[in-house]
Amino acid sequence: MPPSPSGLPFLGNIFQIPFAEAWRTFAQWKEELGPVFSLNMAGKDFIVLNTLEAAMELLDRRSRIYSDRPQMITAGEIICNNCSVGHIEYGAKWRKMRRATHDIMHVKALQAFEQHQEHDAAILVSNLLESPSRWDPHVRHAASSSAYSVAYGEHLSSKESYIVVERTLEFIHALANASMPVTAPYVEIFPILRYVPEWFPGAKWKRVAFEHQRKMEAMYREYLDNVRANIDNGTARPCLATLLIEREAEYGLTEAQAIWLAGVVHVAGSETTGGALFTFLLAMVLFPDVQKRAQAEIDRVVGHERMPSLEDQKDLPYVEALIKEVQRWFPGVPLGLPRRCMEDDWYGENFIPKGAIILPNIWAMSRDPEHFPDPERFMPERYLNSDEDKSKVLETALEVNFPFGFGRRICLGKAYANRTLFAMIAGLIWAFDIRKAKDNAGDEITPSSTACIDEGLVVFSNCFAAGQCHSRAK
Ligand code: HEM
Repeated sequence: MPPSPSGLPFLGNIFQIPFAEAWRTFAQWKEELGPVFSLNMAGKDFIVLNTLEAAMELLDRRSRIYSDRPQMITAGEIICNNCSVGHIEYGAKWRKMRRATHDIMHVKALQAFEQHQEHDAAILVSNLLESPSRWDPHVRHAASSSAYSVAYGEHLSSKESYIVVERTLEFIHALANASMPVTAPYVEIFPILRYVPEWFPGAKWKRVAFEHQRKMEAMYREYLDNVRANIDNGTARPCLATLLIEREAEYGLTEAQAIWLAGVVHVAGSETTGGALFTFLLAMVLFPDVQKRAQAEIDRVVGHERMPSLEDQKDLPYVEALIKEVQRWFPGVPLGLPRRCMEDDWYGENFIPKGAIILPNIWAMSRDPEHFPDPERFMPERYLNSDEDKSKVLETALEVNFPFGFGRRICLGKAYANRTLFAMIAGLIWAFDIRKAKDNAGDEITPSSTACIDEGLVVFSNCFAAGQCHSRAK
């Protein structure tokens, strides 16, 4: 087995793993235990992968036996009724769901969403011009709307739709905490607890989980029925839901699976994209020179008369590199989504037993000076050719894709998220100077680059009240 911190008899390392920011603790343990180490949680083996090399070797090259997810009783089985593409086991059901999602989210199909994405970016800019201090709800709303478009073909543009965003957020928090072995209820470690009845004292986790399932399934059913009605009256726009309805027989999904598939895609794309936007705002406050250089590129290529569009992406290499750096500097899913090893295996001299839970520590990978010299520095240049004139964003799979995971279960929304982020970030840089906020005495507040909001699975920088958007309009 890979080296492990010494723990208690029977319980192993169960009390040594912090509930918050475990990825930071694991990155520190890497210094002592090495790039791959193991943990024992009351008899369950966990293997933490802290380098890109280890993650690429196991999760990518050997993905045949590393593409399963561990059993997630609360998040996968109860909350998502065993129908979440992100939680279910590797096999026929997952393949069917993944195929349907891929059919709408592969790079070519995404052109159909360009207008949606540019529209959401314009709404974000306009909302921020109207109320620059309310960027928390505006950013979350924009990110949620973008994921809603790909799932259901419509924007969340009305003020009433803030309620959809709020309901989704509540659900995301529950799901994210339950999906991460270190924050999940004890039932994940002691599965026997699943048989405790809902009314039993101490079984609140189960009551709450079923409550989420009932609420969310009803809501997602309603969204899908709305799309069905739109198809009937000829107003439906292409999206995952129209595909699921129109090609129902071809995909062979049950009604519940189709309902949850569209819902989970909306959920999976909302807070992750929002988190990247928060990190972007923080980086702009802390690294004003980067902001100026990105503004200069946009002013030169796009000018002041119109907002940047997705068409401009190929001509704005610095902005594109900046977006990659946002995702490296503060990866939104720092401990990835757990995997399960399906056969006994060896990594070098280390034995990895069948059934071990694999945690890719994306955070530690993002801090590896071998790949990212001076890792705490926000430096888009690291993704650019040194020759400025021929500036081209480097595309090494190893160093660019890792914030989205690995191998066969890599994020389904990777390309879509990158386009949404481009439309929104280019729009924000074009429209605003993003600067430090001031306290009551008029002194600038310097936000911490490490403070973050840890929601279990999804984590993002905590930049609230530390930045302000100022319109660049003359
Ligand atoms: C910056 C934004 C995003 C980040 C950082 C992110 C990150 C991730 C990560 C790390 C995983 C786990 C992959 C693995 O196991 O190796 C994942 C899975 C997933 N993501 Fe994303 N994601 C983002 C945006 C999106 C969007 C916009 C969507 C859809 C609209 C989406 C849909 C999914 C789905 C469905 C899965 C589960 C895939 C599976 O288990 O087969 N994500 N994402």
